[in-house]
Amino acid sequence: MHGVPHSVRVIVFGRQGAGKGTQCARVAAHFGVPHVSTGEILRDAIARDTALGRAARVVLDGGGLVEDSLMISLVQGRLGEQDARTRGYVLDGFPRTLVQAAAFDEMTAARPAHCAVDLEVPREVVVARLLARRREDDTPEAINHRLDLYEAQTSPLIEHYRSRSSLRVVDGVGTQDEVFERFRATVAACLG
Ligand code: AP5
Ligand code: MG
Repeated sequence: MHGVPHSVRVIVFGRQGAGKGTQCARVAAHFGVPHVSTGEILRDAIARDTALGRAARVVLDGGGLVEDSLMISLVQGRLGEQDARTRGYVLDGFPRTLVQAAAFDEMTAARPAHCAVDLEVPREVVVARLLARRREDDTPEAINHRLDLYEAQTSPLIEHYRSRSSLRVVDGVGTQDEVFERFRATVAACLG
């Protein structure tokens, strides 16, 4: 182990409201690696009114997806930072399209993710959670649009990572502590 820091590299799928943000923050803290949430990066850019934020605001409000090329360079930049290069990442919200998945596989070809986690929660359960949460972009129209986009664009990625044999399904229904324990154990098992 001399001089080679142990790193943990995980990508996380799950429909909107599955608890990715909630659980990824805990899992990342547990393993001591950065939690990289593309949604949070975009919301932060919107709050600070940067050029990225101005480009993303209308898309987020409507529940659509930000352009692939913009997201790919954003994630490539973030994963290239020192903390992610040495410690790894829990990547929440990317890849979300097949184009993003191809770019992700290419940018991590030398050091692939240890596993892809699908945090599985049925659609009716996430709708109830989201309506209770009331984030600014949580209008009923935007929620439904995002859930439709997830089925159309992001679900196929689950098959992509299943065939690469790195996919682990974690049941996301239960208390936050129960889900955390399943998620943590799943990641630990991937690290072998
Ligand atoms: P993003 O922020 O990634 O949003 P999302 O995937 O739609 O998911 P959410 O953040 O809404 O849900 P979550 O799964 O994180 O659940 P949470 O922990 O909050 O993306 C936002 C937007 O950015 C996208 O719509 C898109 O426009 C853009 N974007 C981002 N990445 C992109 C990309 N790669 N390409 C293109 N565009 C991109 O939990 C939800 C609620 O449930 C909370 O209130 C929580 O307290 C509660 N909860 C959590 N766990 C439990 C539990 N076990 N039991 C009961 N309640 C729970
Ligand atoms: Mg989130």
